[in-house]
Amino acid sequence: MSLADQMVDELVQEELAETQLLFLEPTSEDLSGRVLDVGCGQNHYLVDHFISQEVDVEGVDRLAETNGRIIGADLGKDALPRPDNHYRTILAHMFTPFYIACGPSYRLFAASDLSIAVEVRIKALDIMQELLRVLEPGGRILCSPTIIELAHQVPGAAMEDRENSVPPDLLPPAPLPIFEDQNELCLLTTAVTYES
Ligand SMILES: C[S@@+](CC[C@H](N)C(=O)[O-])C[C@H]1O[C@@H](n2cnc3c(N)ncnc32)[C@H](O)[C@@H]1O
Repeated sequence: MSLADQMVDELVQEELAETQLLFLEPTSEDLSGRVLDVGCGQNHYLVDHFISQEVDVEGVDRLAETNGRIIGADLGKDALPRPDNHYRTILAHMFTPFYIACGPSYRLFAASDLSIAVEVRIKALDIMQELLRVLEPGGRILCSPTIIELAHQVPGAAMEDRENSVPPDLLPPAPLPIFEDQNELCLLTTAVTYES
């Protein structure tokens, strides 16, 4: 098993809805349409919280069974079984593929084996592309931790980084310009500093 796959397997910690909301900070406008919580966890705390608030929400996680509002799927392998432009808002709190592609631990991959780092980055970008497919024009992806450097690779994406900028040594070895025609996309990150 690669170092990257090992990290995905190990990073299964779940936070209560209140904690996740501190970082994601969705507005009432974000919650007024269909919402997807990516990597919602087996306990899907945030999904349950929003169901109790009568938000039209679904969650997806590779460790969950498909049941009611929860979609069991591994986005590294499976397409989301939803049509294009389906969701107004996508929430991703500590979603592992983004975390390892963009968080401080990315430095470890790049330093130890550049090919693993590139593989990790490409997988995260593939997943991002699938999320962008199901995001409605003008919809938003709210992420924690930061996806700012991933979003730098999305031409035309409008960025807002409210807390931190990413240190230059975390930037990818080379741009991977695989996104096109996403000009209406607005990405919002709540950048959080994590200790590696
Ligand atoms: C660190 S946990 C965070 C769970 C929840 N969002 C929270 O903050 O409490 C990361 C979750 O992402 C899920 N995950 C990781 N890679 C995934 C993938 N490729 N497709 C779907 N879910 C994935 C894991 O199964 C895990 O439940």
